[in-house]
Amino acid sequence: MANETNVVEYTIENKIAWVKFNRPEKRNCMSPTLNRRMMEILDELEYNDEVGVFVLTGEGTAFSAGMDLKEYFVETEKDGLAGTRKAQRESYGWWKRLRDFNKPTIAMVNGWCFGGAYGPLFACDLAFASDDAQFGLSEINWGILPGGGATKIAVELLSFRNAMYHAMMGENVSGKKAAEWGLVNESVEASKLKERVTEVCNVLIQKNPVALKATKDAVRKVSEMTYANAEEYLVKAQEAANFFDNTGRKEGIKQFIFEKTYKPGLGAYNK
Ligand code: ACO
Repeated sequence: MANETNVVEYTIENKIAWVKFNRPEKRNCMSPTLNRRMMEILDELEYNDEVGVFVLTGEGTAFSAGMDLKEYFVETEKDGLAGTRKAQRESYGWWKRLRDFNKPTIAMVNGWCFGGAYGPLFACDLAFASDDAQFGLSEINWGILPGGGATKIAVELLSFRNAMYHAMMGENVSGKKAAEWGLVNESVEASKLKERVTEVCNVLIQKNPVALKATKDAVRKVSEMTYANAEEYLVKAQEAANFFDNTGRKEGIKQFIFEKTYKPGLGAYNK
């Protein structure tokens, strides 16, 4: 078995946690060991005050080639349904943890992104890709449906026709096309990808962190609500956010209205 301690690596620089799938020789496919390690890393980083934004990317030519077809499927199936369910809990577990993460999260898609990798892709609040990254729901190519949430993600992010084509055809789309389709926010030249993501991180770091967490949760949750329920949820969510930070918004108003030191239409107040 490969060295299992470094299948995920991270560094923290200027409040940005750069977290890397680190199995480049296996195109960063997700094994049970990788899934367990990622959960530990989420634990290490979520409430670390040195971290303002979490960026997920991959070492080498892949973001992630999806689930490890050998270690995640074949080897866990040897333990029967218990093995399969355990492997599913571990992967779905960290993707959910990432969806709910207390800080803003960004997927920086540097290369291949297949199947199961749509789980963490969607879990991240924002996504940026290199123009030449390749995205595919390749499940159909080896005889299964896009599971692990991948079909749901396609339907959430793509038009009906594009979702159907993407899921049924097993063809890849480039980062550029993924941006046109809404699978990622933007695609840029590979050489500019880190710079662009850093720029976005630096904007996010200036914002009120309690308001950011309330906002990202709200965007995910209101899509399933009626208008009236969303209206009520948003009032309650702001009141709940006030429990954690009841000074930020007052400071924001003070600096604009009374001190005239910034304009909310043009940027964030000084924390
Ligand atoms: N599971 C297990 N092993 C993998 C996976 C994977 N998902 N992806 C790559 N590998 C392994 C290869 O078997 C190979 O191992 P080896 O060196 O021991 O022979 C190694 O990683 C390198 O892979 P290559 O295929 O040689 O790399 P190449 O750069 O030529 O191709 C590509 C990259 C296109 C990503 C190719 O590896 C591939 O098609 N991978 C599978 C993609 C996929 O369909 N993933 C599953 C999606 S569905 C799901 O996640 C549920």
